[in-house]
Amino acid sequence: MKAGVFDSGVGGLTVVKSLRKAKLFEEIIYYGDTARVPYGTKDKSTIISYSLETLEFFKNFDIDILIIACNSVSAFAINEIRQNINIPVVGVIESGILALEDSIQDKNSNILVLGTRATINSKLYPNGLNTLGYKNIISIATPLFVPLVEENILNGNILNETMKLYFKDLKDIDAVILGCTHFPLIQDEISKFLNGAKTIHSGDAIVKYLKKEYDFKENIISNNEDTKITFFASSAPDNLKQVAKNWLNIKQ
Ligand code: DGL
Repeated sequence: MKAGVFDSGVGGLTVVKSLRKAKLFEEIIYYGDTARVPYGTKDKSTIISYSLETLEFFKNFDIDILIIACNSVSAFAINEIRQNINIPVVGVIESGILALEDSIQDKNSNILVLGTRATINSKLYPNGLNTLGYKNIISIATPLFVPLVEENILNGNILNETMKLYFKDLKDIDAVILGCTHFPLIQDEISKFLNGAKTIHSGDAIVKYLKKEYDFKENIISNNEDTKITFFASSAPDNLKQVAKNWLNIKQ
């Protein structure tokens, strides 16, 4: 099976990492729209038009499934993408909500949702969590984390000051939905800052979801084989490949 994985930049590599570890696919075509990242600060119609343009790129590769490894696209453009391609299209929001439900049983827990402005404005996470009975949900747009991650600033003072800015009024957070695929790169720092709060990661969530809802099997390639991954980016592909190399620990 061949999967397409789409993100606005490098963040979707966190989803690729989980897919690769689970060995769900023989092959992955990755596309990061690095020329136009961030998407999360753009309006809905812009996100839809960028996403549909990217869809045309994927049509060259005969993929079996398209994974939208971007919360902002999953929030605003997934229906339009589905209407324009004849293969399953899976986003990260529904899977993230279900992953939270799997790991947090107490419906009175304090849940923090982080994401881009687009994802937070869509209200898809809190609405989905409310429907499942969770009562205490705080959502915060944390767009500054995106350029920090794109710049490979994954710890240290600048990140700490940014967390202070966003998190200074928060108390007793039990779990954090990392509602942006860039954020798993700083998840340990976020969890530490929030006194060890549990984190929900779009990549791990989507692996669970693909196994449950689409009956994908783990380890379809043998132990000594690896998923073949080809990386594309709309600008500076070498940067993206370098981040992929570091983050995924592979030689490309
Ligand atoms: N990876 C994107 C997401 O999950 C965030 C980056 C962006 O704003 O484009 O929403």
